[in-house]
Amino acid sequence: MILAIESSCDDSAIAIIDRQSLEIVFEGKTSQNDAHKPFGGVVPELAARLHAENLPKLLEGAKPYFLRIKAIAVTNEPGLSVALAEGVVMAQALSLALNKPILPIHHIKGHLYSLFMRSKARFPLSAAMVSGGHTALIEAKDYGNFSQIAVSLDDALGEAFDKAAKMLNLDYPSGAALEKAARSGDENRFDFPLPLKGDPRLAFSFSGLKNSVRLAIEALESAGSLEAQTKADIAASFQKAAIAHLLDKTRRYAQKARPKQMGLIGGASANLILRDRFGALCREFDCEPLFAPLEYCGDNAAMIARAAIEAYDLGLFCDPAAIQIRSRAPFAPPAICI
Ligand code: KG4
Ligand code: ZN
Repeated sequence: MILAIESSCDDSAIAIIDRQSLEIVFEGKTSQNDAHKPFGGVVPELAARLHAENLPKLLEGAKPYFLRIKAIAVTNEPGLSVALAEGVVMAQALSLALNKPILPIHHIKGHLYSLFMRSKARFPLSAAMVSGGHTALIEAKDYGNFSQIAVSLDDALGEAFDKAAKMLNLDYPSGAALEKAARSGDENRFDFPLPLKGDPRLAFSFSGLKNSVRLAIEALESAGSLEAQTKADIAASFQKAAIAHLLDKTRRYAQKARPKQMGLIGGASANLILRDRFGALCREFDCEPLFAPLEYCGDNAAMIARAAIEAYDLGLFCDPAAIQIRSRAPFAPPAICI
């Protein structure tokens, strides 16, 4: 069995996976949503302090499996460095106490493997990563070989959902709240511009769209207060434009690369409208759409444990003293023109 720790942002999580059956035999997660709610976003120092409190409590539940643990996996990049450090310190301590090796895991690889929680991973794999920290098109040839071929020039899709939700005074955490509000809205009422329309770069941008939402809200507020229906219409129209932009660039990628299978990963991949439209886009290209189970779209330790099985089989162990924490992925290629 492999024990995995995830603490890259605001979810403290520990999971244990059985290497043979892929069964998640233990899983514990403590969300910090309520603590960050008053700030309208994740406060890194607070996240780190709460990881330091939560992780040892979660570890209590994992103790019965300690004798069967063969390795300790931990997310070491990318993420908030002070938050990553809490998980890494726990992994170092466990590695020394149990005399088991460490497997450092890249957070995005965890999301990629969330597509294969109960099945063998299949490559080559293309994926659209949509989270609070990343929006990217990814190509993976195998476990060790993956690259981002398009990234966001500014905000991530999930981050844009969070900011739009904040402007609409919706509940935190915001992406899910915006999707919920949008359900009763008219997505055609506001004609928000499609970002990078006609721009030859294979890249994403959400800051202009966010600004259009802000201007629309300001104009409506100066004429009176925002009614619930108007808020829902703004949420739906924003969601439509954000998804259309993601899929516009993904379509251009698919036209050129003709992937046989394409996954949708990251916290925002829990959005049902996005899943639906992404699936339809894949089918246009005879490409199989892959989705993670809804409970494994957001950050979790089970996906880190799943990725760690591959790292274990490849022998990618690391000395506890040598593990490095990197807040940003080492690659951030320029936008590619197609
Ligand atoms: O993968 P994740 O849990 O953490 C990061 O690695 O960033 O993704 C969190 C992001 C947040 O921005 C959140 O608002 C967004 O995913 N999100 C959603 C939905 N659920 C979560 N965005 C749009 N629609 C949703 N239903
Ligand atoms: Zn994530």
